[in-house]
Amino acid sequence: MELFMGNKHVLFLAFFFIASWVMQLSAVSATTKIRFGSNVLGNVSLNCQTKNGDPWTKVFKPFNGESWEISEATFCNVTSDEKGFIDTFAFYDPKRDSVRCPLSCLWAAVDFGVIGRNDEYFAYADLFLYWKKPKVAGNEAAKRQ
Ligand SMILES: *[C@@H]1O[C@H](CO)[C@@H](O)[C@H](O)[C@H]1NC(C)=O
Ligand SMILES: *[C@@H]1O[C@H](CO)[C@@H](O)[C@H](O)[C@H]1NC(C)=O
Repeated sequence: MELFMGNKHVLFLAFFFIASWVMQLSAVSATTKIRFGSNVLGNVSLNCQTKNGDPWTKVFKPFNGESWEISEATFCNVTSDEKGFIDTFAFYDPKRDSVRCPLSCLWAAVDFGVIGRNDEYFAYADLFLYWKKPKVAGNEAAKRQ
């Protein structure tokens, strides 16, 4: 009986390890929730591209946001009517973000730029990108003269 119980425990442990291993495997291929919110006046447009997919754009009205699922590396640039432009950056990088924000990653357009953090209530922003003011193009200036 003792031995029998022992075997049961071993079986249980084996099952437990296999189950957690399977869960880890599925976590690797799972999608991650992304949230983007805008805290600035004027529309903000997020222009993105994946390696093999078509480019896509989302437009955020002032003080609006949206969540969606993302599953592959995604690169984006951001244009704010009011604030300027941010060059292409890694919006979602599975290698970086499976550690940074395994369940949900948040980006927010704010006064000085776009900030990224783990979408948990107390998480600090850990990625900072700053608006570039659009250059007053030479020909724009010239047109006014
Ligand atoms: C802002 O975006 C909304 C929704 O896409 C659009 O209807 C509206 O015309 C845009 N406003 C400006 C000033 O571009
Ligand atoms: C912004 O990103 C979109 C989508 O990837 C791309 O088509 C566009 O050329 C980019 N704009 C600039 C100025 O980099």
